[in-house]
Amino acid sequence: MLFMPQNTQAQRKVPTRRISFEESLKDLPKHFSADGDLILSHVAASLSSVFPDGEDFFVRSVRHFRDQITDPELKRQVGGFIGQEAMHGREHRAFNDRLDQLGYPVKRFERLTKKGLAIRERLMSPKSNLAATAALEHFTATLAELVLSDQRTRDLFGNEEVKNLFLWHALEESEHKAVAFDVYKAVGGSERTRVITMSVLRYMFVLGMAAQVAISLLLDRDTYRRGNLRRSWRNFTLFGVNGTLNDKLNTAAA
Ligand SMILES: [Fe+2]
Ligand SMILES: [Fe+2]
Repeated sequence: MLFMPQNTQAQRKVPTRRISFEESLKDLPKHFSADGDLILSHVAASLSSVFPDGEDFFVRSVRHFRDQITDPELKRQVGGFIGQEAMHGREHRAFNDRLDQLGYPVKRFERLTKKGLAIRERLMSPKSNLAATAALEHFTATLAELVLSDQRTRDLFGNEEVKNLFLWHALEESEHKAVAFDVYKAVGGSERTRVITMSVLRYMFVLGMAAQVAISLLLDRDTYRRGNLRRSWRNFTLFGVNGTLNDKLNTAAA
């Protein structure tokens, strides 16, 4: 499936909202997901751990080409995109600080993400990094659509403030979903490279996330409490493997 921006550039608003979750996350319990679910709490924590450095990478990839954009509307949207991603990075870092206090290995994952992306930037061209950003932005926008459109998915976050954090992030991902793609096209990026990048990153993202969640679970004492993991896995497969999430991931990668 080709990624077609749904809004024309002129219609798209990309506002930067000043927001802070730090204070309200101070009392977050360890297993914050719906019904104190083990796996879903670790999935949300693992996702959040890659966001801050991932967002920084997106911003650098797009900013590199800012001076080459001649369309003033797209230039304005790039400003909005950078503002939104910078705020996402800041707020997910605050969430990660709280997760770190609770014993999640998020800081290790943050460092790994940072190193991995630095290596990618050294080895690959700026246009390839922009292709990766456009592909990953398409991927996150699809996940965002799931969060925005499906009440059941939103409820899985459990804790109100965690839900608000992901909902705010999802809303803004949906607002700026085509910006990196438009910049990529404007600077002559090829569709073939973007599609190949998308297929490779899809598997890397899913495998990387699965490994992170597994490590995170292994380091959690509650994983070893009798029946806990089995009960959580049953809920997860019901929703994740057979249900809505899998459909959306397949759609995103098509
Ligand atoms: Fe973001
Ligand atoms: Fe984004």
